[in-house]
Amino acid sequence: RILVLDFGSQYTQLIARRIREAQVYSQILPCTASLATILAYRPQGIVLSGGPSSVYEKKAPSVAKELFDQGIPILGICYGMQLVTHLSGGKVVKAPHREYGRADLLIDDRSDLFKGIGTGGSAVVWMSHGDRIERMPPGFRSIAHTSNSPVAAMKSETKQRRIYCLQFHPEVAHTPEGAKILRNFVYEICGCTPTWTMQSYVDQAVTQIREQVGKDRVICALSGGVDSSVAAALTHRAIGDQLTCIFVDNGVLRAGEREQVKKTLASQMHLNLRVLDRTTQFLDGLKGVTDPERKRKIIGRLFIQNFDVESKKLKSVKYLVQGTLYPDVIESVSFKGPSATIKTHHNVGGLPARMKLKLIEPLRELFKDEVRVLGTELGLPDEIVWRQPFPGPGLAIRVLGSVTKERLAILRGAETIVDQEIRGAGLYREIWQFFAVLLPIRTVGVMGDQRTYDNVIAIRAVTSVDGMTADWARIPNDVLARMSSRIINEVKGVNRVVYDISSKPPSTIEWE
Ligand code: XMP
Repeated sequence: RILVLDFGSQYTQLIARRIREAQVYSQILPCTASLATILAYRPQGIVLSGGPSSVYEKKAPSVAKELFDQGIPILGICYGMQLVTHLSGGKVVKAPHREYGRADLLIDDRSDLFKGIGTGGSAVVWMSHGDRIERMPPGFRSIAHTSNSPVAAMKSETKQRRIYCLQFHPEVAHTPEGAKILRNFVYEICGCTPTWTMQSYVDQAVTQIREQVGKDRVICALSGGVDSSVAAALTHRAIGDQLTCIFVDNGVLRAGEREQVKKTLASQMHLNLRVLDRTTQFLDGLKGVTDPERKRKIIGRLFIQNFDVESKKLKSVKYLVQGTLYPDVIESVSFKGPSATIKTHHNVGGLPARMKLKLIEPLRELFKDEVRVLGTELGLPDEIVWRQPFPGPGLAIRVLGSVTKERLAILRGAETIVDQEIRGAGLYREIWQFFAVLLPIRTVGVMGDQRTYDNVIAIRAVTSVDGMTADWARIPNDVLARMSSRIINEVKGVNRVVYDISSKPPSTIEWE
């Protein structure tokens, strides 16, 4: 395995991911890990990540110098390079200009790390640093340069020391040959073989969860979404019925959602699932409420209350499973202490502290697409694995204005048609999210010879990679036409359909 020591770079996870893409297992440790801890992992190679600090800062994160003399291959990236330089007797200085963005790398040694790289002359690389190497440490030599950095990469190769350093970031997509450089490091230099697969991730996570949990009980707030379902299935694989999942039907779920969760997770996957029907309670709580933030608060509060009551019925619960993904971990600043890295944006965010539960977050190192692969590996069906994101407050923020059973029924009718048409057109996986919104106004129409005065449905469909920015999906006109005509004909109470053509920003994906 390869260890990645995290010095706080926002790209640390990407390094680990690129290495896993090369089918070599990689694991991230905070740079505060002791030498003994690091060596206990018996790494075949170690990557020192970049980071926001400067080696001259008072509290600059560092490592034990002895790490460099263990004969373990080391790759220092950006801050990692500066740290190697600083600790080994070289000199790092503030660059007169921060170097940020694209640079052309001229390679002076293609024997190992740069094997097959930049063969056309130079290689495009992505730089992002304020400090640079003024003098290399003894024993190092430059293996690549750019017009700005005479030492854009260096190495020291003796029996005891096998250290490679890069001033640029090989892990980012803007360094097109970066993945190949990392592959050279792990294959050529560390001698790893490409044998790691998602199955080995499962095995390893299972062992880890078993060790962590022992005989205690674990609960999980299952939403039916991809992340919580995969996290639950993985935990279930590890500890079986020591895991209890709680699913709360809050009355604002999509059509058929509760049945589907029951069918797949309880009947097919045999998870120990408690389904609470709280439709009436939530809808009573939402009665007359039109402000979106108040809707969110009411739903969040009732959810926690229910979860709390239900979990107290179970004895010796010590852990809560959460499907936190890497993008949920705002910034990788783990050397400041793990607590700084957790973004509790989930709807169950307040739970662990309130209930004094410890967290199990088996997906913390994964990206969404990796979680989907993992879900499939665990035997979850496509309907769960390829689910689109769905907000915690559910349809309550898609029925604009006050939420009633009747208005929810209209929305669900429209939503089912939108879903069928998008799937029918083969667009499902291209679109990040699509849904119907019920507007709080009525408009005039004519059906047969009758004047109507009825509801408006807006269709929202967006493309996105992470939900942070989004563009409206260019759905073919004939698909839109079918949706519109079916909604107006089949859903009673709707006489007009509009398509939302706003991007995010400045609009948001949801209307509330
Ligand atoms: P917006 O509407 O902010 O949405 O562009 C971005 C993503 O977040 C989802 N969303 C929520 N998810 N609780 C959630 O768990 C919420 O209150 C919430 N509001 C929006 C939205 O569906 C989209 O995927």
